[in-house]
Amino acid sequence: MHPWRELVHGIDDDAPEGARDYINFDNAATTPPFVAVTRRIQEVVPWYASIHRGTGIKSRVATRLYEGARESVLEFFGAPQDEFGVVFVKHTTEALNLFAWVAGREGMRVITSVHEHHSNLLPWRRLPGTVVLEAAPDGGHDLDALESALREHPGPATVVAVTAASNVTGALTPLEAISSLTRRHGARLLVDAAQIAAHRRLHMRSPDLAVDVLAVSGHKLYAPFGVGALVAPLKLLDAADPWLVGGGVADLVTDDAVLFARGPHRHEAGSPNLLGAVALAAALEELQRLGLDAVEAHERTLTRRALDALGAMNGVRLLGPAPKREDRLGIVPMAVEGFPQNLVAAALAREWNIGVRSGCFCAHPYVTRLLRLAGAPAPTTVARGEGRTCWMPDGVVRASFGLYNTEAEVDRLVTALGEIQREGPRMRYRVVGSGYHTDDEEAWVASHLPGRPGAARIPTDADPEE
Ligand SMILES: Cc1ncc(COP(=O)(O)O)c(C=O)c1O
Repeated sequence: MHPWRELVHGIDDDAPEGARDYINFDNAATTPPFVAVTRRIQEVVPWYASIHRGTGIKSRVATRLYEGARESVLEFFGAPQDEFGVVFVKHTTEALNLFAWVAGREGMRVITSVHEHHSNLLPWRRLPGTVVLEAAPDGGHDLDALESALREHPGPATVVAVTAASNVTGALTPLEAISSLTRRHGARLLVDAAQIAAHRRLHMRSPDLAVDVLAVSGHKLYAPFGVGALVAPLKLLDAADPWLVGGGVADLVTDDAVLFARGPHRHEAGSPNLLGAVALAAALEELQRLGLDAVEAHERTLTRRALDALGAMNGVRLLGPAPKREDRLGIVPMAVEGFPQNLVAAALAREWNIGVRSGCFCAHPYVTRLLRLAGAPAPTTVARGEGRTCWMPDGVVRASFGLYNTEAEVDRLVTALGEIQREGPRMRYRVVGSGYHTDDEEAWVASHLPGRPGAARIPTDADPEE
């Protein structure tokens, strides 16, 4: 057994009955929690209290923990404390919307591209003058087009917003080249680190990389509890009015004036998410303890194994970077010929107990282009809304790996896909929305709900020793 399997909840012995042989290959969407995270939460819960203005010891401890979590984020991403602030938010999506507000107030122009997750696309599309670059003919980034856009819009009022790794293909964005172009034209670089943070080292300030703004989600790096972070220059955070206003953001409010706080507090309206911040810091410390180089090496092994086996299978089309390319995360997008991809995902779940994702992964423009590049048949699904009719592609199946997955699990996925491809799904499915369900779908889910009488539960540290 891989030693890292014990580091996350819900695997092997830690899994409730019924989920014991479950294989989670949906880590690009959400990872299971680290045990180190829930342990830290258990330690902190007795100290849970109001933070910032409370004078009692619990409030003081809670405040120290919350502010300390900002330091952990800065350290993990190599962001100097005197230059950057960390705003705790719910997730990457909120971080990017918050920065879009700041950018809008400061009259900035954003250059982004069709590769992006909707969370790193739609907030910018709301701003005037946003430039959305087309993909290069091979589906990658078009650096010449970026350079032209930067030449047209040079200076610090321009922000280049890119993801560090595609949530669809796992391809790493050529960040260093983009950083160098961005610097050369005096613009700023924003990096959506939602995908990369749990898998590769990313330092905002290093000899080859200068990142000015970064967004990240806790739930994609083994830290649930509804937290994410925006790391941004303190100067920029202080320049813009808060996006949300209310408690916590103002130093002084008179009948007709408001003096907003400076630093991250300015953008954290309402009572802060202490447990979320603590969870995020604990997860980052755990990743540092394991070493991101070791994580990368293990996930590369899994990815290579999957790409080699799936690439050799008739009827399975791999999408994204060429299988031999190493510059990708453990994300494997594919289309199984002859079947709707959502049906393949349903069969993997029901018949093989393997959880993957299928569809277009909140990256509709990019998936549409990838499928076109791969010569996929014309889109089959129609979506109607707001008086318009759009054609949605059938999408792809995506398997994505975490540090606790094993080669044996990859082999099982390959076997399962081979059988589905050869013989089709064994159970009967009906179309429900854009997905596929069996007739007993509801009962199947209900029989696994935690908390029902007699339901198996994961043991906790609070349970008596056996
Ligand atoms: C690259 C990328 N950016 C942003 C997001 C949005 O993350 P969240 O849903 O945590 O806000 C995702 C989620 O899949 C993602 O993969």
